[in-house]
Amino acid sequence: MTWWAISNPHSVSEASQAPRVLYYGRRKGKPLTPARQAVFDALLPKLKIEPSAPDVTLDPRTLFPTANEIWLEVGFGAGEHLAAQARANPNIGIIGAEVFLNGVASLVRHVSENNLSNVRIFNEDVRLILPRLPDSSLSRVFALFPDPWPKARHARRRFIGPGNLDQLARLMRNGAELRVASDHPVYIRWALEHLTAHPAFGWKVKGPEDWLTPPPDHVTTRYQVKAGKEGRKPHFLCFFRRARATPDTP
Ligand SMILES: C[S@@+](CC[C@H](N)C(=O)[O-])C[C@H]1O[C@@H](n2cnc3c(N)ncnc32)[C@H](O)[C@@H]1O
Repeated sequence: MTWWAISNPHSVSEASQAPRVLYYGRRKGKPLTPARQAVFDALLPKLKIEPSAPDVTLDPRTLFPTANEIWLEVGFGAGEHLAAQARANPNIGIIGAEVFLNGVASLVRHVSENNLSNVRIFNEDVRLILPRLPDSSLSRVFALFPDPWPKARHARRRFIGPGNLDQLARLMRNGAELRVASDHPVYIRWALEHLTAHPAFGWKVKGPEDWLTPPPDHVTTRYQVKAGKEGRKPHFLCFFRRARATPDTP
């Protein structure tokens, strides 16, 4: 039985043949304004990665035929970070996964306003796309301010954890960066414990202040601004995929 079926044994939706995983966060907020809805309806079908069964491989080169590298952003929120990265790196193809529809609509607007052609959106739980991507296909992964689920009884809901890290270890190329940010002490401790314990990942840290300093190409996110206003300090955990015995194929 696969990992997703363990979460929900009655999990295959007949409509899409996509398995469901148990997801606990919000999927929808306020209704979109008519203008935003119109952009969303016009553009999302061109950007959207359709859900599918986990054994249906998704070759990112079919999404981005000319890209040099593929990056993934998990839970992109309102998409301002993803859009800015896409704008600054036109030769990189970026897949964004986000379940919250209003966040997806916000990224669609950024894509439209900036005329971006290197963004694709998976509007489902990210755990449904990870198994579909090929080995060593990702050169960078961002998980910025993932939901902290601070209560111990909810710890299994946290994105950084053994199952997802095994998937990322498979998907990330040798030397690829995994950038995790959090403002929550419980999550920071948890993520550090799991990342440092995982044999595939090494920490890029050079000194004690490192994790309080955003990486030079970091783009401030909406959640980060909110955390700052409420007096919480963002921490940046920059890890890399350790080299495997065999080099990556080009
Ligand atoms: C605390 S918010 C941070 C958003 C954004 N990264 C930022 O920094 O502003 C976490 C986001 O992750 C999304 N999310 C949580 N679990 C997810 C999952 N399994 N797959 C995709 N998105 C997820 C939520 O919908 C939410 O938008």
